Amino acid sequence: MNRLKGKVAIVTGGASGIGAATCQAFAAEGARAVVITDIQDEMGRKLEATLKRGGAEASYMHLDVTKEPEWIAVIAGTVSKFGRLDVVVHNAGMSGPHGRARVDEATEEGWRLVMDVNATSAFLGTKHAIPEMKKAGGGSIVCVSSIYGLVGSRAGTAYHASKGAIRLFARSAAMQYAADRIRVNSVHPGFVDSPMTAELHARPGVREERLTLTPLPRLGLPQDIANGILYLASDEASWVTGAELVIDGGMTAR
Ligand SMILES: NC(=O)c1ccc[n+]([C@@H]2O[C@H](COP(=O)([O-])OP(=O)(O)OC[C@H]3O[C@@H](n4cnc5c(N)ncnc54)[C@H](O)[C@@H]3O)[C@@H](O)[C@H]2O)c1
Repeated sequence: MNRLKGKVAIVTGGASGIGAATCQAFAAEGARAVVITDIQDEMGRKLEATLKRGGAEASYMHLDVTKEPEWIAVIAGTVSKFGRLDVVVHNAGMSGPHGRARVDEATEEGWRLVMDVNATSAFLGTKHAIPEMKKAGGGSIVCVSSIYGLVGSRAGTAYHASKGAIRLFARSAAMQYAADRIRVNSVHPGFVDSPMTAELHARPGVREERLTLTPLPRLGLPQDIANGILYLASDEASWVTGAELVIDGGMTAR
């Protein structure tokens, strides 16, 4: 119940799917405060109300992760409201047609958008979180990559490239700030049922193909990934940095 006791956490893309499950897990584990951030304001505010009804301290703040001034405002707002910053989860992400396009079909505009949302976001947020985490005496940054940041597939140029970028960004930042007790790790989900994949998984054959590729006989749930993020955010992982936590039902072990 108290695995995050005393900690103030910001979760990006926190209104939906894996991000929402992470906010719920953090609240259930006694976080001092959960700052839900997203661009889906109505859903974010609803989650804030739900967590508060359950007795947790939660606050929704609008944050487009591609915009540096918004990062600065959210981190300042978090520290002024809750006094410190201990955890940032870089979870916001996109795939869609731009993320999934093959090399010869992808556009420069689409590539840049996906790289901005999935990778540049982690650089911007980490840059502005580091000074606050130093003041707090340490911290934990969790970058949500993907199995598609580890292995290739037949499509998904920009998605693969962006998830590979955030993976190595995490390792690099882990080395840079280890002496400050700031840990940086990546999480690599496999095929998870969430709003991001709902349309794709409803297409004929896709769900079946993904199940065939996944040794444990089901697709993932947002909570499966949130459990791993929770571990990395907590002090149970106090000697874990630069690690890549794969949560994929065995998909990449094949
Ligand atoms: N679902 C999967 O199978 C799967 C697999 C591997 C990795 N992931 C990764 O997990 C993370 C969460 O995905 P999900 O499956 O929960 O999808 P989701 O679509 O339910 O959640 C993504 C959230 O990110 C938010 N977002 C998008 N662009 C944003 C921006 N510019 N600024 C702020 N927020 C923004 C969305 O509003 C949404 O709430 C993503 O990074 C995704 O790439 C998902």
